[in-house]
Amino acid sequence: MAFNKKDLISINELTASDIRYFIETAKEFKKISLKDIKKVPTLRGKTVVNIFYEPSTRTRSSFEIAQKRLSADSLSIAVSQSSVVKGESLKDTILNLESMKPDAFVIRHNESGAAYFISKCTRASVLNAGDGINEHPTQCLLDIMTVKEEKNNIGSLKVSIIGDIYHSRVARSDIYGFSKLGADVYLYGPHSLLPRPEVLLKNVRIAESMEEAVKNADVIIMLRIQKERASYYFIPSIEEYRNFFQLTPSLLSLAAKGVTVLHPGPVNRDVEIAGSIIDGNRTRIFKQVENGVAVRMACLYILLGYQKNN
Ligand code: CP
Repeated sequence: MAFNKKDLISINELTASDIRYFIETAKEFKKISLKDIKKVPTLRGKTVVNIFYEPSTRTRSSFEIAQKRLSADSLSIAVSQSSVVKGESLKDTILNLESMKPDAFVIRHNESGAAYFISKCTRASVLNAGDGINEHPTQCLLDIMTVKEEKNNIGSLKVSIIGDIYHSRVARSDIYGFSKLGADVYLYGPHSLLPRPEVLLKNVRIAESMEEAVKNADVIIMLRIQKERASYYFIPSIEEYRNFFQLTPSLLSLAAKGVTVLHPGPVNRDVEIAGSIIDGNRTRIFKQVENGVAVRMACLYILLGYQKNN
């Protein structure tokens, strides 16, 4: 099967078979990271430019490691030391970098839609590494890969996403991804941070309580309160949030046996999730990070393969 698109901007634009293709490819690339010599020549001669307008630990480092493992030449632009601080626009920045003939851009931006905008300004592939509150497609793919390593059939799962849904690009991509694969997706969080019921997809619903969200859940995805997106203005206080929306050990005991707990990071320990759960045996936060490298290798391989064939 082939993926016939130049860019990876959104999970919403993928089919269920596209998602499966990305995950199956990532499974193959994961084997490389488990070898003594973690490098293959697959993208030798290709140039990838990483531009992160927002801070990142996991996404940025795993994209960079993925590029190195595939032997691509990679360049990471430090936005704070670039001509962006002199007022250069996003479009002009991309057009100038485009003149140096990169094969792909990896972009994180605080504005929703920035990755799509850039994809229209360049012939290079664009990989969305998170745009505002819109989408974070590679995070969704690594979340699905992590769940698939433990559960046979995503279509039979109850997947609960809890916290600041409104500001979360991870939630948006995960809602699309898990529901396209047939899971029953439940959302829960402060009323002010939930989507309106009328915009929900067919197999996505809003739970009435933490207990309903967590009860018999096979997968629980906890989200961070996002200080940088002013989430605190949407809730009375952090204490209130802890009291009503924190995943605690007693709530977790209501979940299905063998529940998988995910969190995209960074974690506010003991705010949205009890520290003892993070350190416990149901949480797969570091497995998510490990799988992030494989997923990003797969995404680069697939998109640059499209470039070769078109
Ligand atoms: N999950 C995630 O996007 O983390 P970073 O912001 O550290 O990249």
